[in-house]
Amino acid sequence: MKYAEQMLRDDALLGKVIVVTGGGSGLGMSMTRYFLQLGAKVAITSRKLEKLEDTAKALEEETGGQCFPVACDVRNIEEVESMHQQVINTLGPVDILVNNAAGNFIAPTERLSSNAFDTILDIVLKGTKNCTLTFGKHWIKTKQTNTNVLNIVTTYAFTGSGYVVPSACAKAGVLAMTRSLAVEWAKYGMRFNAVAPGPFPTKGAWDRLLPAPIKKKFDPKKRIPIGRVGEHQELANLVAYMVSDFGSYLNGEVITLDGGEWLKGAGQFNNLEKVSKTMWDMLELAIRRKK
Ligand code: HXC
Ligand code: NAP
Repeated sequence: MKYAEQMLRDDALLGKVIVVTGGGSGLGMSMTRYFLQLGAKVAITSRKLEKLEDTAKALEEETGGQCFPVACDVRNIEEVESMHQQVINTLGPVDILVNNAAGNFIAPTERLSSNAFDTILDIVLKGTKNCTLTFGKHWIKTKQTNTNVLNIVTTYAFTGSGYVVPSACAKAGVLAMTRSLAVEWAKYGMRFNAVAPGPFPTKGAWDRLLPAPIKKKFDPKKRIPIGRVGEHQELANLVAYMVSDFGSYLNGEVITLDGGEWLKGAGQFNNLEKVSKTMWDMLELAIRRKK
């Protein structure tokens, strides 16, 4: 199967300027790599400049594209505005914003301090708000059209989930923002969409959500009907299509890419897969007898 291969034509993002928050690691880095391969100029931004510089250098060498690293804590509006200006000065007007930066960890909610809860809300919801407002207002003021924002959420943005409650609240807020602005700001030539990935191995997520002591007990593969975790390139393929001009009619949508994981948890009878064939033979007889 070709799911780990590059999907779009080589010039799909030629000439586009893209900002990826949290672009120095994990899924942000994988999306950035593919955007560069498709001809875009990409700014990557997060708190740790050294990490961003290493990533940018490695990706430029690998792809031959232009990748600009900028330090910016998305929680701080002044830093976001400065980052936005630096990107314009270096790469030119921005066409696409990917709100990918996030903070998260598993914990029983009663163990969270008020500051712990706020920390996640601030990175995920307030950070997305800070970037969206800064870029969106600028696009309106300069009358720049054919722009779009892609927000990375999760499936528990719509199902909710225990043990990651601040993240669930924040991602739900981001999803509401996506759908709201998709309508309100369409008149300014902007599109807003979201992707809800299932488990994709990254150090950031795995260290905080699947720490070694519980890794064996909660193997994510067992929760996924397709029987495997995601490949970074399949997420990059989807996102590259969504932000490109080929996705121009896609607006206000959230696309789930999780191998069926959340639906497996939702379907009332899905756990009957544990019933053996012999047991099914017995059950069928018993049920048929109930005429
Ligand atoms: C309880 C905790 C805690 C824990 C931190 N805190 N870790 N509380 N259990 N395990 C508390 C601290 O005590 C503090 O509260 C508050 O949270 C802030 O912690 P700091 O360490 O000061 O914050 P900061 O340095 O800003 O770091 C933020 C962080 C950290 C979120 C805690 O993990 C981080 O930098 N993460 C960025 C990368 C990341 O999280 N990637 C994963 C994304 S994966 P007090 O009250 O003591 O001051 C993802 C996947 C979704 O989103 C879906 C998967 C399927
Ligand atoms: P990751 O590598 O930890 O990515 C998170 C990024 O956010 C890091 O690069 C981090 O960089 C940056 N960041 C954190 N706090 C920030 C802040 N205050 N300001 C600016 N940047 C900040 O983890 P990932 O798995 O690739 O996650 C990427 C996205 O996918 C997230 O939105 C996550 O919720 C989503 N997601 C992931 C999975 C999965 O299975 N991996 C599943 C569903 C959704 P710095 O530390 O340098 O700031």
